[in-house]
Amino acid sequence: MFRSKKRVVGLDLGSSVVKAVEITLEGQEPVITGFSRAELPPGGSVDDAVKQVFKEGRFRSKRVVSGVSGQDTVVRYLSMPQMSDSELQQAIQFEADKIVASDEDFILDCLPLQRGTAEDPEMSVLVAACQSERLNGQAQMIQSAGLLPIAIDLDLFALANAWELCVMPVSESVEGRDTRATALVDVGSRVTSINVMRGGVSCFSREIPIGGANMTQAVARRLSLEGFEAEAVKRTSEDHQAEVRTAIGPVLEDLASELMLSMDYVEHNEGLTVTEVLLSGGGVLAPGAAEYVEQAVARPTRLWNPLEGLRVDVNRVDVEELEAWAPSLVVAVGLASRVVNQ
Ligand SMILES: Nc1ncnc2c1ncn2[C@@H]1O[C@H](COP(=O)(O)OP(=O)(O)OP(=O)(O)O)[C@@H](O)[C@H]1O
Ligand SMILES: [Mg+2]
Repeated sequence: MFRSKKRVVGLDLGSSVVKAVEITLEGQEPVITGFSRAELPPGGSVDDAVKQVFKEGRFRSKRVVSGVSGQDTVVRYLSMPQMSDSELQQAIQFEADKIVASDEDFILDCLPLQRGTAEDPEMSVLVAACQSERLNGQAQMIQSAGLLPIAIDLDLFALANAWELCVMPVSESVEGRDTRATALVDVGSRVTSINVMRGGVSCFSREIPIGGANMTQAVARRLSLEGFEAEAVKRTSEDHQAEVRTAIGPVLEDLASELMLSMDYVEHNEGLTVTEVLLSGGGVLAPGAAEYVEQAVARPTRLWNPLEGLRVDVNRVDVEELEAWAPSLVVAVGLASRVVNQ
């Protein structure tokens, strides 16, 4: 009766904005009980932004799940013979040299995505690796902010977890040979993450090094502005809308062609059809960006609000602020969704 509630804070250490969302399990129901964000000023430190986020967020939990992305991480989808989880962990360590072509020290983890069947006895396994120095550094940073790092995930997979928590239709979880897939696409500041889900399981993921920062640079060049001025013009200026659209056109073109390549590849390789593209991340808020991507990828596309279907504790969260930033909170929500399996 007096058991403490299960709560976790998902901490998204984005390259331009640190975002934190607290989810509390009330009975079986995940409820958003806290939210805060801090933009990183040029040259600003992530540590300070984390401290600010926790000061302003008034979270009740100190238990933090954060994420990693970028060059320090490696993701592979392998086909392996059937084996137990402990055998799999051992087998993966043997394969480490093939998975990570680097002299640096990496920490590997793996997850069976799909067990084999009578017709196809191989099982599909996801292997994730991250440079150990990066993982340790991040855990230490979180600890030195007075918090408890309970897990570190991949941002790419936080997308999938947010989808599972908020959107996944019941039919998607049914195993079988359904060939329909959903592509989750999060356009951040430095990177765009894509994770393609079939039958509730990830079958492809990738980071594309294009995002909102490239759009800001393009606006700065076209209008001869400093970076911070270009950022403001990109976000709010009604007067320069047409020029902003023209400036960011080539960035969107590059991004869309990378997205097309990925989707064509996964459709061809896995024999499936991407029937839905869910767009998120601050980068898609740029004028015309979502429409451009929709047209270019030529598949049904919609903006994804990861709060859809989740209850929000209005006594603890500024709902207007939360809704305003909702499309950029997918990773934070996905990280916090670990509370469900705690
Ligand atoms: N209203 C807006 N119009 C256009 N762009 C916007 C708007 N609001 C935010 N952005 C852009 O969104 C980006 C920040 O989004 P987000 O918080 O998803 O990125 P991040 O997580 O910090 O980056 P990354 O995932 O690449 O590390 C910035 O590039 C910012 O310029
Ligand atoms: Mg991000």
